[in-house]
Amino acid sequence: MSTTYKHWKVITDDENITWLHFDKADSSTNILSHEVMDELEQELNNLNQKPPRAVVFLSDKENGFIAGADVTEFSQLETEHVALTLIKRGQHIMNMIERLPCPTVALIHGFCLGGGFELALACRYRIADSDPKTKLGLPEIKLGIHPGFGGAVRSIRTVGPLAAMNMMLTGRAMSARAAKKIGFIHHAIPKRYLVTAAKSVIKKAPANHKIVWWAKLANHKLARPWVKKILIKQVSKKAQRAHYPAPYALIDLWERYADDEQRFMEEEAISVSQLMVTKTAQNLVRVFSLQEKMKAYSQIKDYHPKHIHVIGGGVMGGDIGIWCALQGYNVTIQDQAHATLAAVRKRAYSLYKRKLKKRLPITEALDRLIPDINGNGLKQADVVIEAIFEDAEVKRELFKQVEPKIKETCIIATNTSSIPLEELAPALKDSTRLVGLHFFNPVAMMPLVEIVRGKTTSDETMQRAASLTKSIRRLPLPVSSSPGFLVNRILMPYLMEAVVLAEEGVPLKAIDKAATDFGMPMGPIELADTVGLDICLKVAENLSQTMDISVPERLRNLVNSKHLGKKTGQGFYTFKKGKPVKPALTKDFTPPTDLPDRLILRLVNEAVACLRDGVVDSSDMIDAGVIFGTGFAPFRGGPMCYANSRGIEQLIKLLESLDSRYGHRFKPDAGWPTLMKENDTSESIKT
Ligand code: NAI
Repeated sequence: MSTTYKHWKVITDDENITWLHFDKADSSTNILSHEVMDELEQELNNLNQKPPRAVVFLSDKENGFIAGADVTEFSQLETEHVALTLIKRGQHIMNMIERLPCPTVALIHGFCLGGGFELALACRYRIADSDPKTKLGLPEIKLGIHPGFGGAVRSIRTVGPLAAMNMMLTGRAMSARAAKKIGFIHHAIPKRYLVTAAKSVIKKAPANHKIVWWAKLANHKLARPWVKKILIKQVSKKAQRAHYPAPYALIDLWERYADDEQRFMEEEAISVSQLMVTKTAQNLVRVFSLQEKMKAYSQIKDYHPKHIHVIGGGVMGGDIGIWCALQGYNVTIQDQAHATLAAVRKRAYSLYKRKLKKRLPITEALDRLIPDINGNGLKQADVVIEAIFEDAEVKRELFKQVEPKIKETCIIATNTSSIPLEELAPALKDSTRLVGLHFFNPVAMMPLVEIVRGKTTSDETMQRAASLTKSIRRLPLPVSSSPGFLVNRILMPYLMEAVVLAEEGVPLKAIDKAATDFGMPMGPIELADTVGLDICLKVAENLSQTMDISVPERLRNLVNSKHLGKKTGQGFYTFKKGKPVKPALTKDFTPPTDLPDRLILRLVNEAVACLRDGVVDSSDMIDAGVIFGTGFAPFRGGPMCYANSRGIEQLIKLLESLDSRYGHRFKPDAGWPTLMKENDTSESIKT
């Protein structure tokens, strides 16, 4: 017997087991939209009236079970009351699943995240595909909220508060094997056995995971205040309460209501609906959508490069090659020096050991990374990535030698951080295939890659470069070939202002604190020391030719005396065991009131200039680029979003006043009035 809805197909087999196939219409991914939930509720009512022997939830999508709730619906919530109604409905449906008068099984493969995992937790049994692609988790914290469909209550009930809190507070997803070990799921097995395993658990009704005594103890009302303190200490290292209230709210909830599940569930709904309408959550949801938008830039489907040839095995080339091999590509890596290539293998081994853990995948990844001093890999390469010295003449010379050796279809990417592509293009016969792939340092940690379009770069090459970037799990940001592209151009005025403030005598620690209080992951002085003061100086000098930035003497002096920052152990700060030693501020010190504005508004003003110059095509892409390229406080939604939230007119006035006090570098950019007009128009459309 079968019933077909728009998003669900219900099949009851001859053993009287009902299989609920989820296949969201018009979407490549299963998400729990309003309509999906409506249909599910309707079917659960049917099942409740006429219960089968068991109900099995499964997905017909290739990529996974359920990726979560529909976040686009979150951004349309205007009041806490509307949010609460939505959440309570979700809880009601999960409760209906839990209360079905027959065994329920979630058969999981691929993504099982957020609301999807909450649905699985409402089932009596969970069985997952053991393939590493299976990812289970509750990542709501990353969107400024916490689980709301009963996921907090049920995850704690299933595995105890420590493991559940760890999953919810970090938002990290885990493999099926890890989930089995912790007790979230009953079996982690190859996909082909899932159906048989479902029938077996229905028949045998195995016992649930037993929570160890010490984990149970942590849930006791006398232990909870102590555990709460530890959790808060851990959370506060990563997220300030004022900026990211969700983890704190979750810890509070658990500490207060863990003894009473019903109340816990009610309070879970109230708390999450309060969080959903905060600026933080709205901005984080937007950042999530921007990320999806960046991924969607690569539209070509039939591009499947296999071989990447990297030229230059230094800091960047080495790490790019290592990363690409980790992501499954065959990589040949060429350098002038054997020693450099040996160092690359060593670095690769330590990254692969950390990431892959097991011997076989480590060996396989190392086998894919082939040292190639003579450049033999050029003839097979689908992509060449150049990362040699930052010297236009040397790069041009290299391109002339490379072009005759490569396939016609091979694209040539340069990792240059400052040379316009137009200066390199004349070296090539076919410069339509030249593109910039500007990775950030360290490659393994920075999610953004700027895809630089030169005047002659073809659309096809841009698309291929973006597709390659996406395939190595990086976010492509198309930018025009202008000095500093987007990220360095926006970052440099902010870093230089920090050095000017230091020259004025503001303590380094106070400068960094102003930035971290704003929500930056690291202060600008520490960031400059970490990037390397020689690199900062070079970029600043380059940009000073086209932008209104002067290079502070203090930066030059440090570089001249070989104090390059973290890598030499001394820069603005002295480094001990890789950490900067920051002298404490004196008790009577009060920072200048305009300190945060001086830092942040230089960055925001440059962002406006980039938009006006068309470095990227929208203010959305400015926000995305600056968040993923610099770590700009994500809860503020990026510099353009921040400017809008403070009020454009007000910021222009503020910049004018800073201009009169500190100089022309604060002059409001010519792009502000256009922004103001656009803002006025969108406001009048809203009203
Ligand atoms: P690096 O000095 O660490 O490495 C350059 C490597 O290229 C050296 O190992 C050198 O032996 C090799 N090389 C030079 N000429 C060669 C040739 N003709 N054939 C083969 N190998 C050759 O430099 P780094 O920092 O890795 O920079 C490389 C490129 O990446 C530059 O264009 C730089 O602007 C860009 N970049 C650097 C970033 C950084 O943070 N270091 C960030 C983003 C881009």
